[in-house]
Amino acid sequence: MTDPHAERILIIDFGSQVTQLIARRIREAGVFCEIVPFDKAAEALGDDLKGVILSGGPCSVGDEGSPRAPQAVFDLGVPVLGICYGQMCMVAQLGGEASGSTEREFGRAFVEVKNASPLFAGLAAPGQTEEVWMSHGDRVTALPDGFEIIGASPNAPYAAFADEIRRFYGVMFHPEVVHTPRGATLLTNFVRTICGCSGQWTMAAYRDEKIAAIREQVGPEGRVICGLSGGVDSSVAAVLIHEAIGERLTCVFVDTGMMRAGEAEEVVTLFRDHYNIPLVARDASNMFIDALAGVSDPETKRKTIGRLFIDVFDEEATNAGGADFLAQGTLYPDVIESVSATGGPSVTIKSHHNVGGLPERMKMKLVEPLRELFKDEVRALGRELGLPDTFVGRHPFPGPGLAIRLPGDITREKLDILRAADTIYLDEIRKAELYDTIWQAFAVLLPVKTVGVMGDGRTYDHVCALRAVTSTDGMTADYFPFPHDFLGRVATRIINEVNGINRVVYDITSKPPGTIEWE
Ligand code: XMP
Repeated sequence: MTDPHAERILIIDFGSQVTQLIARRIREAGVFCEIVPFDKAAEALGDDLKGVILSGGPCSVGDEGSPRAPQAVFDLGVPVLGICYGQMCMVAQLGGEASGSTEREFGRAFVEVKNASPLFAGLAAPGQTEEVWMSHGDRVTALPDGFEIIGASPNAPYAAFADEIRRFYGVMFHPEVVHTPRGATLLTNFVRTICGCSGQWTMAAYRDEKIAAIREQVGPEGRVICGLSGGVDSSVAAVLIHEAIGERLTCVFVDTGMMRAGEAEEVVTLFRDHYNIPLVARDASNMFIDALAGVSDPETKRKTIGRLFIDVFDEEATNAGGADFLAQGTLYPDVIESVSATGGPSVTIKSHHNVGGLPERMKMKLVEPLRELFKDEVRALGRELGLPDTFVGRHPFPGPGLAIRLPGDITREKLDILRAADTIYLDEIRKAELYDTIWQAFAVLLPVKTVGVMGDGRTYDHVCALRAVTSTDGMTADYFPFPHDFLGRVATRIINEVNGINRVVYDITSKPPGTIEWE
């Protein structure tokens, strides 16, 4: 059996906004990698390491107390690639000189390749230029012994350099971002050619390894309970665990009454009929809708739903005979301890609802088979497990469901209006073959009524806002640039077909400053 973890690349994080992108590119190259904050990096070094990448970061190497990589990184005998701040660290730690500069460089630049290097294989040849994306303030003033320049731009004479003997490389630009068009090739060169990784990180290998690990963790008698939301993460986790321990997995699906049209039926059919997975489906919609009556504060809504969900789940888990383990679809981005440049805890924007309160209350241990994966890898694993494409490719749907797409108080009537508008919107998106290019699209029903005219009569109805964004991880997002005729078509259908809506608007806010959901 191929071991997907046999070859490991360590990414030492100095707090760059785009460190996760380095990890994604390396995984796409078929190589397992982990991100550690610089102050925990010493503990993460090991004999299994094939290479180390030093990320960018907001500090300047000239700053008092600015972070460094553990010096041991340079004594491991494995290749090291420093990116931006990581490059400056490498220079400072190996005896060269780097300092802060008043001449900052941001955005697109062209680097002339000065010397052939395996790092640039498949990119520009010596004498030609390569388009890159720069974002730095520090500059190198003297290279450490053994290094030579392999790329330079008019503003960055040390844009790329290498010590080919020790296999140490530094680039001042960011190969991990899409604005460096061939950056993924550079990173692949580093991990596959220079570090010598053979590309064992595949979802097929991961699947086999995880099934064995779940069996080991749960033991021959252990029982697992899994909250199914209908989303991709919990569904993939459930199918994987079912492959590992069969009937000893029980799934619980709680219909909160805040689901989209047909959602509850779809989940039950897929899991119970298609996969034959023991599934308890509880219609708790009345309980949720009644508890939310008159509640319009977003945080109170979220907390009420979270609390009720735990109560219902707890009850159903007990009814199903209890369990020793709780399965959660936690993903890698939730696990990574990112470095805060300011050191302070981050502000709570929204209380995300998950089953976080349960393990303690029910004294269960956690099974989290997706902890090492990014969202796109979870989708690939889902396909590997035979989940239908229509399910694997679904847009994310938040735990609190439609409740946070109904600013103001929630009623059954408003939920029905919103469901009808949302169905039309998604139907048109699918017909236009745009579903897969959009990260998430949904309708929001506003607590605002406006005057309209339909036929010969006056109307006084709700406004519906449409939202659609592109994103890679939900952390940042851009609004989706629909053609105007598409928006016109959706608006006409919603106003004609949904009673209670007489006006449609399109939300063109990106994140930040907005968030994806409205509450
Ligand atoms: P925001 O609105 O914070 O959303 O920009 C980012 C992503 O997270 C989803 N989301 C949630 N998912 N429980 C979830 O499981 C939640 O409470 C929750 N709130 C937001 C949102 O749909 C988007 O994909």
